[in-house]
Amino acid sequence: MSARILTADRPTGKLHLGHYVGSLTNRLSFQDQYQQYVMIADVQALTDYWEDPDLIIKSIYEVGLDYLSVGLDPLKTTFFVQSQIPQLFELTTYFSNLVSKSRLERNPTIKAELEQKSFGSVPMGFFSYPISQAADITLFKATLVPVGEDQQPLLELTNEIVRKFNHLYQTGCLLECQAVLNQRCSRLIGICGQHKASKSLGNAIFLSDPLPIVKEKVFQMYTDPNHIRVSDPGKVEGNVVFAYLDAFHPNSQEVVQWKQEYEKGGLGDVYLKNILYKDLTDLLEPIQERRQRFTVKDVKEILYQGCSVARTVANTAIQEVRQAMKILSFE
Ligand code: TRP
Repeated sequence: MSARILTADRPTGKLHLGHYVGSLTNRLSFQDQYQQYVMIADVQALTDYWEDPDLIIKSIYEVGLDYLSVGLDPLKTTFFVQSQIPQLFELTTYFSNLVSKSRLERNPTIKAELEQKSFGSVPMGFFSYPISQAADITLFKATLVPVGEDQQPLLELTNEIVRKFNHLYQTGCLLECQAVLNQRCSRLIGICGQHKASKSLGNAIFLSDPLPIVKEKVFQMYTDPNHIRVSDPGKVEGNVVFAYLDAFHPNSQEVVQWKQEYEKGGLGDVYLKNILYKDLTDLLEPIQERRQRFTVKDVKEILYQGCSVARTVANTAIQEVRQAMKILSFE
């Protein structure tokens, strides 16, 4: 049997280019070779959007359409919604015994996210979501997890839990996993140049952004504020346009040459931004065209079927877990 893959996205808005390079491209190539599960993590989304359930419902369908638009295929990939799989929450409860508060506090992903958010006092749900993410991955016995680089510490925590669980309960029923990062670019910077591309920071180009908006965003990208005249030498490091050309321009040799010219002076931002806009148009046009072929009704149907498959898998796995933990059955 081929390896299992599981990944997920939080439905808190539409997917953007950061998702595309971070995980969607890998998922696309994996769906032909592996058993792939892609989950819409609505319960995890509630950990920071608990006050806005309507946004989450809307986003479940948007994210579903985003998946179909990039070419993920329900005949090859199983799509499901986290809240529909109760076994995930059961496993999260068991895992909570195996993780200390200080271990979570030290987790770099959580630390970075807490710095960005302005929680007065951190809600337990948010604080402990890495435990529920470990349950997502292990209940589906996923060994490969295509994610962006920022998620790696969460996978390390998952593996710690797996080792602890298997050792403690003398079982091999949980499997360790491995992150699969995009070789070319595993973390896309936002157009502001300060943080990673993120829905909540409003610095991302969405897969479904109309092309004129894409153009606007490309022309807003942070470059080098000291590169005033075309003839001035410019800085490549921290320059968002180059980060995006690195991620999306089909000819990387050309990008190397442009970087050299830019650093010497003589290459203008507008010239490069036009090239980047063309690259993004070539990428996004077929995606947006495919999106038109699907409706919310199609997404509902696909999720309905996927949830049923996922529940069957989850049910078998949770029985093994309970057995290992000597949890009695009173059925
Ligand atoms: N934390 C992930 C994100 O914000 C979403 C997620 C939930 C996930 N469960 C997962 C990713 C399991 C990989 C595996 O994008």
